[in-house]
Amino acid sequence: MPTLRTARPGDAKALAELAEATFRAAFGATNAREHMDLHCRDRFGESIQAAEIADPGLVTLLAEHEGHLVGYAQLRWDPAPHCVAGMRPGEIQRIYVVGQWHGRGVAQALISACVEEMERRGSDAVWLGVWEHNPKAIAFYRKQGFIEVGEHVFSLGGDPQRDIIMARTLASGG
Ligand SMILES: CC(C)(COP(=O)(O)OP(=O)(O)OC[C@H]1O[C@@H](n2cnc3c(N)ncnc32)[C@H](O)[C@@H]1OP(=O)(O)O)[C@@H](O)C(=O)NCCC(=O)NCCS
Repeated sequence: MPTLRTARPGDAKALAELAEATFRAAFGATNAREHMDLHCRDRFGESIQAAEIADPGLVTLLAEHEGHLVGYAQLRWDPAPHCVAGMRPGEIQRIYVVGQWHGRGVAQALISACVEEMERRGSDAVWLGVWEHNPKAIAFYRKQGFIEVGEHVFSLGGDPQRDIIMARTLASGG
């Protein structure tokens, strides 16, 4: 089973490669190439992920197996949409696992680590946005205790898409 740890500055290159590869694997077949390319150009690259790792407003958790990254999750604490209850909600802005590790508990472990980190920081709710045409992830989040609370528009390389917003209350919410 992969081990989990917080990303360090030296992880930026490997994280950028993992982030782009898993994003393309998940959505490349169901989206136009131009939108995918634009999104990947804007969001993934060593300097971009280096800035994310250095950003005190973000936490990047990595799943690593035999020296290779096999999954990651990123948390942030930007203002949440109004449909998310809670005084101090945190967001799982990304969670991705490489295909050959799907169905082996890596994302469950990452979610548990996300929840622990959020509770440690005093968050009382966790939320995320998931593409309406991503039924596997929606089912996974439901199993993890998330419920649908709203929707918002996510721009994938200029293509406006409907994301479902799902949320879960955390223990630190009392
Ligand atoms: C959604 C996603 C993150 C789930 O990752 P995953 O690592 O496959 O998830 P898990 O293995 O933890 O859980 C999946 C299933 O495997 C089961 N499982 C299998 N072996 C397991 C084990 N050893 N331990 C725990 N759970 C296990 C889980 O119970 C769960 O059951 P389910 O299929 O009935 O829901 C993954 O499919 C992914 O990266 N998808 C592409 C990217 C994506 O859509 N990201 C979300 C964007 S919003």
